[in-house]
Amino acid sequence: MARRSVAVVGAGALLASSLSSQSFAVPRAADVTKAQAAQVHVGTSEASQVASSQLGFATVASAAVAAAGLAATRRGSRVAASRADTSRVVCAAGNSGKKRCLVMGGTRFIGCYLVAKLREQGHDVVVCNRGKTNGGKPEPLPGVSDADYQQMLSGVSVLVADRKDPAQLKAALAGAGKFDIVFDNNVRKLAEVQPLVEGVQSTGGCEQFILMSSAGVYGPTDVLPLSEENPGDPNSRHKEKLQCEQYLDSQGMNWTSIRPVYIYGPLNYNPVERYFFDRVTRGRPVCIPYDGKYITQLGHCEDLADFMIKCIGNPAVKGQVYNISSEEYVTFDGMAKLCAQAAGMAEPKIVHYDPKSVEVPDGFPKAFPFRGMHFFASIEKAKRDVPDWMPKFSMLEGLRSSYQQDYLARGFDKQQPDFRTDELILSKSMSAA
Ligand SMILES: NC(=O)c1ccc[n+]([C@@H]2O[C@H](COP(=O)([O-])OP(=O)(O)OC[C@H]3O[C@@H](n4cnc5c(N)ncnc54)[C@H](OP(=O)(O)O)[C@@H]3O)[C@@H](O)[C@H]2O)c1
Repeated sequence: MARRSVAVVGAGALLASSLSSQSFAVPRAADVTKAQAAQVHVGTSEASQVASSQLGFATVASAAVAAAGLAATRRGSRVAASRADTSRVVCAAGNSGKKRCLVMGGTRFIGCYLVAKLREQGHDVVVCNRGKTNGGKPEPLPGVSDADYQQMLSGVSVLVADRKDPAQLKAALAGAGKFDIVFDNNVRKLAEVQPLVEGVQSTGGCEQFILMSSAGVYGPTDVLPLSEENPGDPNSRHKEKLQCEQYLDSQGMNWTSIRPVYIYGPLNYNPVERYFFDRVTRGRPVCIPYDGKYITQLGHCEDLADFMIKCIGNPAVKGQVYNISSEEYVTFDGMAKLCAQAAGMAEPKIVHYDPKSVEVPDGFPKAFPFRGMHFFASIEKAKRDVPDWMPKFSMLEGLRSSYQQDYLARGFDKQQPDFRTDELILSKSMSAA
């Protein structure tokens, strides 16, 4: 297989809602059930569009109830025409190229970038979550004005459902109408994807189903970078993501699976780059396991969302899996140095340690954010099949965006991180010296 050389850094139903903060309302589970009961006669996107535009509903569930009522008054001889009609609807959002997209999750990190990009392209978005975070809405992206954020939200609706409750999820989806594209961002288990697919199929199916998997599915290998041809590891903590792919295939879906390595960028809730910023910003030593030479890879959240968007309508991605990350690979030590550079700080003091010699007590922070192994993947297949995509962010630029737009902007530099694990490691390495 041809492999390119890459840089190793340091290694050397259109329910258009008025989702403004004023009009936003999350439906209760009872509404969702009601919506499902009513949905039998809703089905057509036309009825839902009319209902939502006439009534200005802010949520899918409540709009579906209204659409059901409206459809019922028009039915006459068209009683229960929904199933047959929806199967003929080529695009749930009409013929303008605009798609009606379902994003599972959608309130944080990659979901927020994906929703914002979908809206930039004029698509309508329904996010499905439990409504626990930010009222179920995507967070604003850094640097976006309130007016632009509200404009973005004007094409976003929230469908409230717990995907761990299959009946609730299916009821909510049945009431929500047809979707063109489904982005399953937060799936972890086969039992979570099955009701989603059944719910989507109950409204006439979708054109494309894009699954968020992980490069963590691959088994151990001596040959790197990881390729999509590498076998999945049946013992991986992400093994059910593999089963989800097989399930989607067995259902005859037009599916695509995305396998990111580590994801970073502003809004990252995982303390990946923050681990390094916390230390370099305070002039503290950075504790790094082994000899710091393990090579890893991080992809910027915007580049990931960009790839997801560019899968829409691309026949080459049907039934395919893609590694997505950046063009660069970085050693653990290189990551500490790059983070210091991105933050405009001096090169950090690095303290290497043997993780086996340190037992981290319960309640102490995790010692280090990366797994202790080489972990990096080829993104050549993604670039070949989606030729208008390539990562825009170099590691240094991406880390600068994280530092400026997230670390400083959210005041992490003013907080007092918990360095107890570092202190433990440092005391051991000093006594060993
Ligand atoms: N971060 C990385 O480095 C990395 C690397 C590789 C792959 N990945 C993959 O990327 C994905 C992470 O994406 P993410 O951050 O958007 O998702 P996530 O963290 O898994 O999920 C967060 C979203 O899902 C909603 N949610 C959580 N539990 C729910 C439930 N039971 N029912 C309905 N909604 C629920 C949350 O809102 P509510 O709380 O309001 O419900 C929130 O909107 C995962 O699939 C992960 O495996 C991540």
